[in-house]
Amino acid sequence: MAKDVIIACDFPDAAATYGFLGKFKGRKPFVKIGMELFYSEGPDIVRKIKDSGHGIFLDLKLHDIPNTVRGGMRSLLSLGVDMVNVHASGGSAMMEAAVEGLSSGSGERPLLIAVTVLTSTDAARLKNEALVGESLETTVAHYASLAARSGLDGVVCSPLEAKRVKEICGESFLTVTPGIRFADGAADDQKRIATPAFAKENGSDYIVVGRAVTAAADPVAAYERCIADFIG
Ligand code: C5P
Repeated sequence: MAKDVIIACDFPDAAATYGFLGKFKGRKPFVKIGMELFYSEGPDIVRKIKDSGHGIFLDLKLHDIPNTVRGGMRSLLSLGVDMVNVHASGGSAMMEAAVEGLSSGSGERPLLIAVTVLTSTDAARLKNEALVGESLETTVAHYASLAARSGLDGVVCSPLEAKRVKEICGESFLTVTPGIRFADGAADDQKRIATPAFAKENGSDYIVVGRAVTAAADPVAAYERCIADFIG
């Protein structure tokens, strides 16, 4: 399975996004389009970036009743993206409905990944705000096995949990890991962070890197550093 670095294009609009992607001079990194860009520009920008040759992870983190998520996924199919996601906390019926929605087309469906526990959540927030009595590791592992049993292809988790997820769900179950920082970088709002090299050693399939690349003085050099450290 191809390991890759996914750049989180958390930009406010198309101009900022194309300005950023233009720095890569013909290279076509795998990109993540999240709610900031999707809500401002709509599906058109997804089609345009896809047509220009990028792999796309459309990170809209669906979380609703099963019928609504089934329909939402059916609509997203027309965008031709490579990867989409839901929150595992929406439950197994919702995740199964997401698979059904994505399987309603004639072609190959995008990879479907479940968010376990956001990498901006630490043990204190899980306990005090979400009122989850289990540890972070147990919660992530539980959501991962629920996602696997519901027919999903993998999970979003921290690189700190990727090894455990593989032990529980099998080597082919994908781990997509944000919360990536260089050893000399700022954590920002993320709590469960790791370096690209740590992610490589602990079995991540894809690392998702936002500000460590997008806010770097030289984003292309920062991306190359991620590739070198994660893929080698
Ligand atoms: O800038 P930074 O590298 O922290 O960005 C991480 C990206 O990954 C953001 O777009 C965020 O929405 C996303 N993400 C995350 N944690 C998750 C799921 C997605 O940080 N569990």
